[in-house]
Amino acid sequence: MGYAYDGGYNSLQQFFNTFNTWRTTRIIDRYIANKLVRRYDELKNEDSYVVKKSKSIMDLVLRQKLDNPRVIAGDREFMEMAVSNVKSFLVAGHETTAYLGYAYMLLSKNPQALEKARQEHDQVFDPDLNRTVEILRANPGRLYDLHYTTGIIKEALRLFPAASSTRTCAKGYRFMYKGRDLQLTDQIVIICSLAMHYNPNLFPSPCEFQPERYTTQAVPKDAWRPFERGSRSCIGQNLAMMEMRMVLLLVLRSFDFEALGIKPHNNPIATYTNLDTIYGDLIYQRQALTARPIGGQSMKVKFAEREY
Ligand code: HEM
Repeated sequence: MGYAYDGGYNSLQQFFNTFNTWRTTRIIDRYIANKLVRRYDELKNEDSYVVKKSKSIMDLVLRQKLDNPRVIAGDREFMEMAVSNVKSFLVAGHETTAYLGYAYMLLSKNPQALEKARQEHDQVFDPDLNRTVEILRANPGRLYDLHYTTGIIKEALRLFPAASSTRTCAKGYRFMYKGRDLQLTDQIVIICSLAMHYNPNLFPSPCEFQPERYTTQAVPKDAWRPFERGSRSCIGQNLAMMEMRMVLLLVLRSFDFEALGIKPHNNPIATYTNLDTIYGDLIYQRQALTARPIGGQSMKVKFAEREY
């Protein structure tokens, strides 16, 4: 299996990439560690009722250590765990908003879908953006009523899944594949959501962007799996979906997006998709922290013609 890295197989480039990653990680780790120590001191002096009510990730991590007489800065094992957890949530949160680039790209070539989403935002919230924000603040649960917008997000996640996952097989685990009996004890399997998302038996006309398929078709329950499924599935999936619905609600009516640098292929390069005949190389993903378009994705953003 080959991976698409930035810089391909240029070993000097790989060295600089590794070095830069190491250096950046160190800077971030130190920054978060300092914040944790400072917040720990603040929490120690805080009223215990306030501490118990706080739900921030950092406070949840630190709360368990407040009765501990040891200074957390010297507790290496705890600090490593705490920094790593805070970092996971920060990065995952950032990646979620960055991920919407795919939704903007799809909408830029599907103006009817954009119009439908805008109409939904007018109907479920309000044509006026300020009023929309007021309603959102008073009743964030209304985001769940944005069914078409949810379909847009789901289609972006289906066509361009950001990650996949692995599972270790239990002892004696066997799997029948095309008549072959595979003994998978102690093996690690990769669950390739991309392959499932383009399977026409699960998603008819899989290369078509159809936000309405989640409300008009019976999509099998386990077929859509950008957050994976089961007890170790993405802990932030509901937050991520809410965040993306909210961003699209606040952005889509005010701005028009145009994905730049698209060079459509005359014929599809890959066998599983023909989307490159519309979006060119942008549909191919490279392995970064999460999967993203090779070479990055530039977007021209302008104010939408309609005024709010
Ligand atoms: C578009 C947004 C996101 C996508 C596509 C995504 C996808 C995934 C996937 C595929 C996994 C692996 C699950 C598994 O192995 O079964 C995962 C795990 C995880 N995600 Fe997300 N994620 C997103 C956003 C977030 C957000 C916003 C957070 C937190 C703020 C988050 C926190 C986590 C954590 C902590 C895990 C590890 C869960 C565990 O091992 O038990 N993710 N995510």
